[in-house]
Amino acid sequence: MGQKVLFFGDVGIDDTVALLYAHFSGEIDVVGIVACYGNAPKEQTANNVRYILKEVGRTDIPVMGGAEKPMTGEVPVFYPDVHGPDGLGPITPTEDQSASLENFFQVIPLLDQYDDLVIVNVGRLTTLATLFLLYPEKMERIHTFYVMGGAFNVPGNVTPSAEANFHADPVAANIVMRYAKNVKLFPLNVTQHAIVTPGMVDFIHFKGKSTLIKPLLDYYYFGFYQKKVPGLEGSPVHDAVTIMAVIHPEMFTFYKTPVALEINGEARGLSIGDFRQSFAQYECDGRLVQDVAVSLEYFKFYRNFMEVMTGESF
Ligand code: RIB
Ligand code: CA
Repeated sequence: MGQKVLFFGDVGIDDTVALLYAHFSGEIDVVGIVACYGNAPKEQTANNVRYILKEVGRTDIPVMGGAEKPMTGEVPVFYPDVHGPDGLGPITPTEDQSASLENFFQVIPLLDQYDDLVIVNVGRLTTLATLFLLYPEKMERIHTFYVMGGAFNVPGNVTPSAEANFHADPVAANIVMRYAKNVKLFPLNVTQHAIVTPGMVDFIHFKGKSTLIKPLLDYYYFGFYQKKVPGLEGSPVHDAVTIMAVIHPEMFTFYKTPVALEINGEARGLSIGDFRQSFAQYECDGRLVQDVAVSLEYFKFYRNFMEVMTGESF
């Protein structure tokens, strides 16, 4: 099989597109999914994961419950206006209350089980930060962390300066950026350019490999972005382009820098890298140097996304 991936997400729309891409790629082997609060409450995102796994015939993949609130001590904020009332746009996932979510301990043996395990984190970073606080030695074993978060020297999406995953729990994001070895970080700088147009959606739907993509992207999600960014030609699939990097790093240009976050005040969640060329390569204040994606080759993204989602050559 393909690259082993342990997936952490706040499974709403673009997290789901990421999971569908992984499933259809045949090159990514998801060994577990940790459902966390974020786009929707934890119980809902876990339910969404079980629904998706049932749809694609992969109920063998274990689903674990992650964090349900941030380390900041605040009450979490959810985003039904972007991701729909249940987190999957117009789709109402069938209720599955059967499984307990108090099973986070099941993540631990997975960290030990594989030699080249990578972690993909495309939601708030609370759960991942918890692992760094509790199991630092086990986290040393992780080969690479692919993280969607931040906005470097470009506007944010939830505030003028902050991206949603970093803004919701900047304390956790700071812990991960400080301690994780070998992070590949995918900020809005690249993810907002990973656009899936209505034409692409229609063709994917027509080919019939995934009938979920059209309802997921066509209604709330694209409608939300059209209102927020007039003239935008499609929906940015932040989380899908992040998981694509696991098997297609050549789509991106990376910049090496330590990463810090602003925790409080007006700029809360702001991601800070050192973009002064001669300073950036060095650890700073004990922070490790990370790989920040700063540009995306759109055509490579387009071609691979369409090939995987339709089975056609582009
Ligand atoms: O800012 C975009 C990110 O916030 C994506 O991961 C989206 O799913 C939400 O979690
Ligand atoms: Ca997400």
